[in-house]
Amino acid sequence: MNRVENKVIIVTGAASGLGLADAKALTAEGAKVIMTDIDSEKGNASASEIGATFFTQDVSNESTWPELMGLVQNKFGRLDGLINNAGIAPIANIEETTTKSWREVLSTHLDGTFWGCQSAIKLMKTNNGGSIVNMSSTAALIGIGPYLAYSAAKGGIRSMSKSIAIHCRQNKLNIRCNSIHPGSINTPMVQHALKELVGKDIMAEKDPEQSRIAMGIGEPDDVAHMVVYLTSDESKHITGAEMVIDNGDTVI
Ligand SMILES: NC(=O)c1ccc[n+]([C@@H]2O[C@H](COP(=O)([O-])OP(=O)(O)OC[C@H]3O[C@@H](n4cnc5c(N)ncnc54)[C@H](O)[C@@H]3O)[C@@H](O)[C@H]2O)c1
Repeated sequence: MNRVENKVIIVTGAASGLGLADAKALTAEGAKVIMTDIDSEKGNASASEIGATFFTQDVSNESTWPELMGLVQNKFGRLDGLINNAGIAPIANIEETTTKSWREVLSTHLDGTFWGCQSAIKLMKTNNGGSIVNMSSTAALIGIGPYLAYSAAKGGIRSMSKSIAIHCRQNKLNIRCNSIHPGSINTPMVQHALKELVGKDIMAEKDPEQSRIAMGIGEPDDVAHMVVYLTSDESKHITGAEMVIDNGDTVI
């Protein structure tokens, strides 16, 4: 309990799936959480349920970032953690991907993560540091055929996180930056993908343990536990690392 007590932590894309699980786990461990999402209805409802603050945000819109940091500074006076989690994953391979979709995916993942990190560092520097966690994917490590733009974006997040970690360490900012690389985790994003790619709702037929064993599909808490660890002081010696959460999928 209280592993991140009183830390002020932003989670983007927190109305659903992994972001929602992160927000719940961080709140349960004593953090003051600011949830952001493009979906204000779901986001507001979840935030009031778990006692967090909600801010409507499209992470690919640059002007939302100074606005968000201003709100955090005014309401809490500091920022200790940022989880850049918001994401989209349209299914399209190299032959199918349109320029519009390519730009949307890169803008959400890469622009959003870039602006998030840049504005968080500005605020964290005024208060003795913090921890940034960027949600990448195993797609950054192996590439996934039906996810061309998504694989490119997640690869960019992986390298961007390492560049930020090096800069912060060399400049003694006391800010850590790590990336998380989940395999398949049971969220609306993956349920949709499985329906599209396999053709039926196979998650509806299986309990979580069966899904893990039979198909290698994890639960949102498997990732949320890592997020709590990386934002807590328990991970003070970890920066520039890539945390793979895939039940061994990428080593088999
Ligand atoms: N579920 C998995 O298996 C898995 C695996 C690897 C990586 N990831 C990554 O984890 C993150 C969360 O995925 P999820 O599975 O929970 O998906 P999800 O679709 O359940 O949730 C994504 C959330 O992001 C929000 N969002 C989308 N675009 C946004 C934008 N421009 N600005 C703000 N919010 C926006 C959505 O409204 C939604 O609430 C994503 O970055 C995803 O790529 C997921």
